[in-house]
Amino acid sequence: MDKFVIHGGKPLYGKIKVSGAKNASLPLMAAAILAPGIHRIRNVPHLRDVHTMAHLLRIIGARVDLAGNLMTLDTSDCSFCEAPYELVKTMRASVYVLGPLLARFGRARVSLPGGCAWGPRPVDLHLKGMERLGAKIELQGGYIVAEARELHGARIVFPISSVGATGNVLMAAVLARGTTVIENAAREPEIVYLGEYLNAMGARIQGLGTDVLQIEGVDYLHPVEFVNIPDRIEAGTFLCAVALAGGDVTLENLRSDHLGAVLDALELAGFTLEVQPESVRIQAEGRARPVDLRTAPYPGFPTDMQAQWIALMARANGSSAITDTIYTDRFTHVAELMRLGADIRLEGNTAVVRGVKELKGAPVMSTDLRASASLILAGLAAEGRTDLTRVYHIDRGYERVEEKLRSLGADIVREDEPMQFDAKDE
Ligand code: EPZ
Repeated sequence: MDKFVIHGGKPLYGKIKVSGAKNASLPLMAAAILAPGIHRIRNVPHLRDVHTMAHLLRIIGARVDLAGNLMTLDTSDCSFCEAPYELVKTMRASVYVLGPLLARFGRARVSLPGGCAWGPRPVDLHLKGMERLGAKIELQGGYIVAEARELHGARIVFPISSVGATGNVLMAAVLARGTTVIENAAREPEIVYLGEYLNAMGARIQGLGTDVLQIEGVDYLHPVEFVNIPDRIEAGTFLCAVALAGGDVTLENLRSDHLGAVLDALELAGFTLEVQPESVRIQAEGRARPVDLRTAPYPGFPTDMQAQWIALMARANGSSAITDTIYTDRFTHVAELMRLGADIRLEGNTAVVRGVKELKGAPVMSTDLRASASLILAGLAAEGRTDLTRVYHIDRGYERVEEKLRSLGADIVREDEPMQFDAKDE
């Protein structure tokens, strides 16, 4: 297992390119199952989760190759309609193959994902959506066993906004007979571009970007070339890194229109931003102004930026309250940030952060992807040395993170960490 050794206190200067979006590339890869043949997806990041999804698609029978950031998928010979527990337990997004397998083959056996570091992650909305489209769903031995002689259109109203359930049901509905309407659909850019990819394949989806999607089922889809969107969470993470460490950095290859809530919060916190359609420059010195916020479905402030924002507020010039309305217990990073000197009190799904003048380096442990990111940010700002273990979490969602940070002047190196027997993993 690797660890990062960070010597903080150095401001960041220069330019970095944002990588392709993890949370868009995963459903795009699953959607390729729907159209037998050779798909090419550009701007796909080298991430652990992308390699896990590629592994799952190979088990199903696809050929997947990632050269540079161009992914070539040949889904002509897909036939094995299963997603095994060993894989799904490491990555919840594996459940994205359920809709495409049902739509193309009429059957699927997909392991239930189980929980993650911060609690259960149900898929009940995915399953209810499939049943509305005519699938028979049974739970057998920890597996979802789904069958559908034929999928038919339906009206589906999600009680809460769900990125994964919207994407999964969308991928099933495009080949269903008749019209499907999805209400309270997720509006996240990752879902919008999944829909654009499906429409490029010949699907007929209307309403992308709104919370009502209308899908006219078609008989078949054809493989296409597509360009993945930039990762808005990686971009937001690096902007918070500069805000915390200080400096002057320009992020390139991003979509600033996907970052509205994060850019607004950073401006409220007193940072100077120069925003262009595909780049953002941030200039930062001194402590942030405290900014209260609540996470919300897009276009609200993303829950995937909550941990990073708490890290920024840990050194703010006052107190702030950060509430996560999406995952009410996604706070495993708080205890670790307190080891670096942060003054945080949890009240239910709200973290009350009293900004301190200075954070101090210490050994800390990653517990999940975005918690790891928040600890790197805090380590960059802390005085002295911070050792961050279990960085395999960060490799799930950030492409070459230490190289990008080092190119900006950060003192961060990856070192081998002797195996440790430790508490339950995420
Ligand atoms: C996606 O997860 C992202 N993952 C998550 O990012 C992100 O935090 C989340 O959306 C919210 O934005 C990928 O895109 C691969 P949801 P997903 O369904 O689809 C509840 C990261 O750090 N829910 O929108 O699993 C759920 O418990 C990851 O990159 C149900 O109750 O999230 C949560 O409270 C972490 N039943 C809320 O809905 C269901 O069937 C939103 O979850 C599905 C979800």
